[in-house]
Amino acid sequence: MKFTALLFPVAVLGAACPYGPGSFEPEKETDTRGVCPMLNALANHGFLPRNGRNINENQTVTALNTALNLTPDFGRFLFTAARLSNPKPNSTWFNLDHLDRHNLFEHDGSLSRQDAYFGQWSRFNETVWNWTMDYWTGDILDVQIIANGRAQRSMRSNLTNPDFAISELGNAFSYGENAAILSILGDKVTETCPKIFADYLFRNERLPYAVGWQKSKIPIEMNDLRNTIHSILNATAFPPLPPPDNSFDVFN
Ligand code: HEM
Ligand SMILES: *[C@@H]1O[C@H](CO)[C@@H](O)[C@H](O)[C@H]1NC(C)=O
Ligand SMILES: *[C@@H]1O[C@H](CO)[C@@H](O)[C@H](O)[C@H]1NC(C)=O
Ligand SMILES: *[C@@H]1O[C@H](CO)[C@@H](O)[C@H](O)[C@H]1NC(C)=O
Ligand SMILES: *[C@@H]1O[C@H](CO)[C@@H](O)[C@H](O)[C@H]1NC(C)=O
Ligand SMILES: *[C@@H]1O[C@H](CO)[C@@H](O)[C@H](O)[C@H]1NC(C)=O
Ligand SMILES: *[C@@H]1O[C@H](CO)[C@@H](O)[C@H](O)[C@H]1NC(C)=O
Repeated sequence: MKFTALLFPVAVLGAACPYGPGSFEPEKETDTRGVCPMLNALANHGFLPRNGRNINENQTVTALNTALNLTPDFGRFLFTAARLSNPKPNSTWFNLDHLDRHNLFEHDGSLSRQDAYFGQWSRFNETVWNWTMDYWTGDILDVQIIANGRAQRSMRSNLTNPDFAISELGNAFSYGENAAILSILGDKVTETCPKIFADYLFRNERLPYAVGWQKSKIPIEMNDLRNTIHSILNATAFPPLPPPDNSFDVFN
């Protein structure tokens, strides 16, 4: 009796779908992963196919809804981008590494990936992440911190990468990803996110349950992301103009 009472919860937990949605298994050599830390994490948890391949609309919408509480409309919108990255025209599916195609959606100045010009550009790079962390001052990320971190990567790429280029679409993605940290991983109402949630997600490609994260209790729509993109745009004022200085008049 005592024995089974002790074992019972363990047995139940152990049986609770070791390979189904929710349980974390690190990627295997034969799996495919790519530039998006969140989609990689969803595959590592089995919300998306664990091999990272042949992902269809239904799987994407269901995964984003179940794991993150994104509305089906938002999920379908994001899937459109995903399937367009498949080099086969009109595809109804994608592999995670299709998203790596440089200058389609993948762009320079990422928070955790080096620019393609410098080498491997699709996976987590700690040097680059450390640059971002230097600007993520404070335990709670807010609009200003996120705007500063994004501007830093963009400026650094502009100043150091001879091939630096970003399309209008790439730029929109850059703002969108930064907004996603606040409004999807964090709290869409306050537009904040504990830094540890993002650090844990990026480093481990694992949903940050272990550090206290839970999926949003309220559904998240495209419009929520759009609002946060606007907040970040508004907070991006770099480089600032110097204050008026009458001791020089070189500009006149
Ligand atoms: C089908 C859905 C999604 C697609 C197609 C997608 C696509 C991408 C792509 C192409 C990139 C690379 C951009 C680059 O840095 O060059 C990226 C990065 C990123 N994605 Fe996703 N993504 C999706 C869902 C999400 C969700 C739901 C989140 C929520 C947090 C998210 C968060 C991020 C973040 C934060 C980055 C930036 C990585 C960095 O700058 O190092 N993504 N995503
Ligand atoms: C997605 O797939 C599930 C299970 O295969 C099915 O029950 C559901 O109806 C599908 N949803 C859509 C929108 O196709
Ligand atoms: C893609 O699909 C659309 C409509 O389903 C069709 O009109 C178009 O010709 C297709 N394009 C290719 C390249 O297959
Ligand atoms: C990470 O990025 C830095 C800066 O571009 C680069 O020097 C380094 O080689 C990269 N590391 C890996 C493992 O690609
Ligand atoms: C990143 O920063 C941490 C903490 O400061 C340091 O221990 C680590 O060596 C740095 N990594 C790289 C690749 O510079
Ligand atoms: C890099 O910075 C220069 C100077 O501010 C600017 O003119 C240029 O548009 C920037 N390049 C890109 C691709 O944003
Ligand atoms: C835009 O930024 C200013 C400060 O630079 C702030 O006072 C204002 O509330 C912001 N507006 C929005 C809509 O975020």
